[in-house]
Amino acid sequence: MGEPTAGDGQPENGADATAPGVVGPYGERALVVIPTFNERENLPVIVERLHAALPGIHLLVVDDSSPDGTGEVADGLAAEDARNRVHVLHRVEKDGLGKAYLAGFAWGLDRDYATIIEMDADGSHAPEQLHRLLDAVNDGADLVIGSRYVPGGQLVNWPRHREMLSRGANTYARLALGARVHDITAGFRAYRRQVLDKIELDTVESAGYCFQIDLAWRAVRAGFDVREVPITFTEREIGESKMSGGVMGEAFVMVARWGIESRIERLRGLRR
Ligand code: GDD
Ligand code: MN
Repeated sequence: MGEPTAGDGQPENGADATAPGVVGPYGERALVVIPTFNERENLPVIVERLHAALPGIHLLVVDDSSPDGTGEVADGLAAEDARNRVHVLHRVEKDGLGKAYLAGFAWGLDRDYATIIEMDADGSHAPEQLHRLLDAVNDGADLVIGSRYVPGGQLVNWPRHREMLSRGANTYARLALGARVHDITAGFRAYRRQVLDKIELDTVESAGYCFQIDLAWRAVRAGFDVREVPITFTEREIGESKMSGGVMGEAFVMVARWGIESRIERLRGLRR
């Protein structure tokens, strides 16, 4: 898809929205990266909701050649959008959430977006709540995590076993890393581009949940202002989750490794 071009933007939150991808009072250009694998029914709904909530915002669908034709649906949405806000990256095969996001981030950084957002395609993250994340960015935060586990955060229709797993993963990560983040596996986030420029994305190898923990942990360690704002996470109604046992195992091992590495570094610092 082509470069973002100026559309007939309407003022959004008081900003001059004649520039592409503009949201928020400071007129930043923001890009929502949406990874997809078999989301053909969900994608048009989420795109419509996003533009109803934030008309000036741009989005990039990163599709891993979904067998159900999500990639073609995305191309259709891009072609239909006269304001050129919808972009699509086609990747050759299913390569995990982390790799899809990294490709999307690189695309957005190349095009000078000021804020890059992660959001699922299946409706679990409400576009109507995205302004909460952007408001915190505008307030000075570097990474804003839409959190299920801070006061005001909610879970709707999530199976009990998924909630247990998610809360367990967060407790484990908090103990292992010592990071004061309540929802470190969350997939609804806004990064100021300076964070992504600095945290050495070319060395990121983690794929699933672990990718989310990895990036938040890198941002914390780099000294960025990481904040959480409450969101409501609603379980998808259509299609199925792509999370697997392998994804959990990867997270378990990697988090233990990062925790040990950081403790060793701290000890070395004390000895010097
Ligand atoms: N391109 C691409 N490639 N997209 C993928 C892949 C992949 O290999 N795997 C998953 N996705 C897309 C899905 O199509 C969906 O849009 C989004 O990534 C999230 O995938 P789900 O399978 O719906 O994840 P979940 O609901 O089980 O997990 C959610 O909660 C986790 C725990 O908080 C997500 O928000 C995760 O990001 C989060 O870590
Ligand atoms: Mn989901």
